[in-house]
Amino acid sequence: MPSAPILVTCGLPYANGPCHIGHLRTYVPADIFVRGLRKLGRDVAFICGSDAHGTPIVVNAESQGISPETLVARYHQHFDQAFKGMNVAFDYFGSTHNPSNFVRTQEMVTALMENGHVYPREIELAYCPSCQRFLPDRYVEGECPYCGKPARGDECDQGCGRHLEPGEIKNAVCKVCGGSADYRKQTHYFFKLSSFQDFLIDYLQTLGGTITARNYALEWVRQELKDWCITRNMSWGVPFPGHNELVVYVWVDAPIGYISFSEEWCEKSGRNWKAYWKDGARIIHFIGGDIVYHHCIFWPAMLKGSGYTLPSAVVASGMLKIDDRKFSKSRGYVIWVIDDYLEKGLHPDLLRYYLASYTSHTKEVNFAWKIFADKVNTELVGALGNFINRALTFTAKNFDGKVPNGEIDPEVLKKIEAVMQEMTSALEEYEFKKMCDGVMALADYGNIYFQSHEPWKLIKTDRESAGAVLRSCLQIAKALAVFMEPVMPSKMDAAGRQLGLPGPVGEMLFCEALAPMEEGADLGHPELLFSRMEEAQVKELDRVFKERIRQADAREKTKTEEKKLISYDQFQALDIRVGEILQAERIKGSNKLLKLMVSLGDETRQVVAGIATNYAPEDLAGRQIAVLANLEPAKLFGVESQAMILAADVDGAAVLLGPEKRVAPGSKVR
Ligand code: MF3
Ligand code: ZN
Repeated sequence: MPSAPILVTCGLPYANGPCHIGHLRTYVPADIFVRGLRKLGRDVAFICGSDAHGTPIVVNAESQGISPETLVARYHQHFDQAFKGMNVAFDYFGSTHNPSNFVRTQEMVTALMENGHVYPREIELAYCPSCQRFLPDRYVEGECPYCGKPARGDECDQGCGRHLEPGEIKNAVCKVCGGSADYRKQTHYFFKLSSFQDFLIDYLQTLGGTITARNYALEWVRQELKDWCITRNMSWGVPFPGHNELVVYVWVDAPIGYISFSEEWCEKSGRNWKAYWKDGARIIHFIGGDIVYHHCIFWPAMLKGSGYTLPSAVVASGMLKIDDRKFSKSRGYVIWVIDDYLEKGLHPDLLRYYLASYTSHTKEVNFAWKIFADKVNTELVGALGNFINRALTFTAKNFDGKVPNGEIDPEVLKKIEAVMQEMTSALEEYEFKKMCDGVMALADYGNIYFQSHEPWKLIKTDRESAGAVLRSCLQIAKALAVFMEPVMPSKMDAAGRQLGLPGPVGEMLFCEALAPMEEGADLGHPELLFSRMEEAQVKELDRVFKERIRQADAREKTKTEEKKLISYDQFQALDIRVGEILQAERIKGSNKLLKLMVSLGDETRQVVAGIATNYAPEDLAGRQIAVLANLEPAKLFGVESQAMILAADVDGAAVLLGPEKRVAPGSKVR
């Protein structure tokens, strides 16, 4: 009986910026997984697409003076090209802006409403009086109500990382005009997530995938679940059924893309999409570690509430660091897949190998060009490529380019079989590093086998035994090609051709690695599969990267300098006056602070100033100084300060400022 079909998806990339290697941390392992499952004979569909909606796309399009459609179409095409270039081979790559996603989203939302999972509620939302509009998500910035850090509309991105509901953000400022927003009442629609708590607790305990995803989600679900506001005041997106002035929140129609893309693909390839989404297929989501909440809580609740098949596994990848620093586009810690990698003529399979073999899937991968070059040179050139090439060239030279006769060493077959078992379980555990390590251990075994059997000596004395040794080595090479194909598909396909294998390695099952290399079969022409990364090349790649960081730093500097610009009105708000010190004394318990009595002409203020290390109190009476007179009072060392005196900061020492000649105390400084 054929087992249930499997659907593997990857988190949909926002069509809002170029593909970087942070993206690949999810897509490459997912592709390896799919290729691996197919090598176990499973029926797998691999689906992804562009996430086309949400406010950042509208804001970005506006700032570039193009329509969201144009922007989305551009990046959709870009990602499609980047994935193909990286040998990430989706069966279908859709877009959430496709009509079928509108239809499926509206159908699901309607079902949720009919099943009583959606209700209206009046809430207070950020509204910009000067733009005369509500400010959804990224249109508003302010403070996180939970941790007080600067936050964007729907996410506390610089602080605690919480998802923020509309209206939750404090001190809202409009992103468009920079003016401060107020809050106005409006009716929105909420998804009753809270009523799915018991279901989710049960469901999550049986959810497969990475432990990280399941455990995070369980922790959240055991706390309070807040209902989700699923409508927004925008026109870009999927209209909310019955309300043309509202669209659904992007996190509603994005995952529904998994379904609508399956439908589109099934339509095209003559399958039935219900086999995947209604009849209990195995659905496996590969995602970045930052969107576990959406996939393990929100999404299963939506599926449950509208009658679709629930995901059976969520596989969350760890973070990517670059040069040991946190990935950051704005700070230049980024490697663009097309510009920095593929267009530099680097082979996709090298980076695939790096990402898969660096560490376990849920841990942090650090990318650096130096490490990249080391891995290529020692592991791919030195071990894997070297072995396959040695076996092939030696055979070509001494056995006329044909597989020699002779018995394949049973030890070799046993070893291959053991590696296959190991790899299969690694794959089922989403342990791609383990998988790579297993194959690389087989390459090492091959090198040792070749070395210790010394076929170059044997050939002179015992041609038959030499033949058996080489046939065994070719068998190992074949196994390497078959086992490593999921990780390095085009390199291993080339290896397969050199080995004279009858069909593409991509279409072979893992177990075919054990089928003996046929005696007398023609081998292909041996060529080096991998070439060394030279130091000059590594330096150049690193230079480009370092230059980007330098430029980002420079940009950041001008930005903060720009931030310091204030308007004339703001300057006018400062009440700076000339004051005259009447009296000064030390403040008990502080060796930095003095208490000054300062005359501003018609009034006297008490001012606490941190100048005791540079000025003796007895020298100060009668001096004229600059005073900021409208600073709100504060207590320092228990003494109230009712203004601030101005001084130059000379390496931390204060040097008082005063008028060039005596003036009437209280004179305004402009
Ligand atoms: N675009 C989202 C992100 O990059 C992921 C969407 S995944 C889906 O964070 F499930 F919503 F489709
Ligand atoms: Zn926060």
